[in-house]
Amino acid sequence: MTGSASGIGDATAKTFASLGASVVVADLNGAGAQKVAEEITAKGGSAVSCRADVRDEEQVHAMVMAAVQAFGGLDVLHNNAANMSAEIIGNDRDVETMTVERWDETHAVALRGAMLGCKHAVPLMRQRGGGSIINTASTSGQTGELIRAAYGAAKAGVINLTRSVATSYGHENIRCNAIAPGLIMTAPSIALDEDYLDRSRRNRLIKRDGTPEDIAAMAAFLASDASGYVTGQVFNVDGGYLAHHPMYAGNLDLMLADAER
Ligand code: NAI
Repeated sequence: MTGSASGIGDATAKTFASLGASVVVADLNGAGAQKVAEEITAKGGSAVSCRADVRDEEQVHAMVMAAVQAFGGLDVLHNNAANMSAEIIGNDRDVETMTVERWDETHAVALRGAMLGCKHAVPLMRQRGGGSIINTASTSGQTGELIRAAYGAAKAGVINLTRSVATSYGHENIRCNAIAPGLIMTAPSIALDEDYLDRSRRNRLIKRDGTPEDIAAMAAFLASDASGYVTGQVFNVDGGYLAHHPMYAGNLDLMLADAER
């Protein structure tokens, strides 16, 4: 499970462990990954940590092999890491202001990292007679925005990588699906300015903030045999953010008030 030292990955690792899975908590932030693994084992769960930079092929290979060494094999991979730092995503705006370094870093973590995870997980899943790969995409990979040109393009890539992997390996019972979170209140989202958060909230249909546990619950479903006939799909877990017509953008509260009159 990549990017699991914090936020969505942290919650997903803990949800999986609470359901009986043995988890490799992997992250560039090795100390953070170790802390999450310790929190899981303190509660009686099964976890080891692994410092892994998903931009680096050798480290991704070592990460999947950590599952084999610690637990005897790999059944599920969650490609979840992205560079959400203020320096990278905070400065990711339109193409005119884009730097090649910011574009490449965003893609190296979110898209190349996911590809490398799939590349090295598939042979291990084949040995087990199948498996489930879950990629964290984003609503930003499905719509244009005034900001995050690099991030949106990388997440769109993650969506079609998901379909490619599902198509190539479905006949071997290796499934691949993507979760596209909407605004989820992890540290990078909490740091967004209030105006952006308000506008996002006005476009949701479910009137509460999204939590990392909302994403973890979908990941648990996609990891389990309950989703055994599901592959190549993108699941928006966004409180209905992308479900309504753009005409209502920003006006949902107003229109609901009108409808009540
Ligand atoms: P986060 O910043 O808490 O988690 C990202 C994790 O990725 C961090 O622990 C970070 O250390 C790790 N990471 C960064 N570069 C890495 C690298 N090179 N190798 C390995 N690990 C690396 O942020 P959050 O919100 O939990 O994001 C998790 C995923 O959810 C990301 O893929 C993000 O794009 C996606 N997402 C989040 C949304 C939100 O509103 N929070 C909305 C849509 C998608």
